[in-house]
Amino acid sequence: MRKLAAGNWKMNGLTSALAEAKLLATAYPNPACEILLCPPATLLAPMAAATNGSALAVGGQNCHQNASGAHTGDISAAMLKDAGATYVILGHSERRADHAETSALVKAKAHAALTAGLTPVVCIGETEAERDAGSTLQVIGAQLDASIPDGATAATLVVAYEPVWAIGTGRTPTIPQIAEVHAFLRARLTGLIGQTEAAGVRLLYGGSVKPSNAAEIFAVPHVDGALVGGASLKAADFGAIIDALSAS
Ligand code: 13P
Repeated sequence: MRKLAAGNWKMNGLTSALAEAKLLATAYPNPACEILLCPPATLLAPMAAATNGSALAVGGQNCHQNASGAHTGDISAAMLKDAGATYVILGHSERRADHAETSALVKAKAHAALTAGLTPVVCIGETEAERDAGSTLQVIGAQLDASIPDGATAATLVVAYEPVWAIGTGRTPTIPQIAEVHAFLRARLTGLIGQTEAAGVRLLYGGSVKPSNAAEIFAVPHVDGALVGGASLKAADFGAIIDALSAS
């Protein structure tokens, strides 16, 4: 399995930020792990062009579930692919919260992504209230079951565990808490898609990953990479996280 360092720029970055992507592409011509940047849609094509021929992959942050049609303001999976994307983040908690995306919708979007030849990065995670109530595994198990597309394989699915309360807060779960969730997800995936495929699905941890905590998180069994927000905006910070993953 090739581990994955994925950066989610969210709604950050103007044309000038392409310099950070170029720095990464130049610094990692032959990385030991896969490197993915998901910029805002406006930067997708220019980032793909600026890093063309490098080891850096680019991805979208969302797509529509339909292939085309009267959906003003939306972007299809094929359009992302056409712009140079090979991945798309789906079901991020910010979209589940801001745009009322359900797991059923995330699954439909993931189908659209697979049809277009994109690899979906399906995000799941509990809120703080759900963790406090002791229902973390129940919540993320239900999200996983209902969000992943039929026919998903190790080669065509990435799952990101992002506790909502750890996103952008500087707070992270304890190492045993991350270990518990990731072992649970691997077992749950085994039940959904079979042991051979489940063993190869990259399970990313996301939520306040930074250079100072990356190594200990990457040492956790079944953590196969990270989905990084704030710390992916600067090549120096993201590079330190890539280095930690490469060394794990
Ligand atoms: P932060 O790394 O900024 O906490 O964001 C995590 C995230 O939501 C990545 O998708």
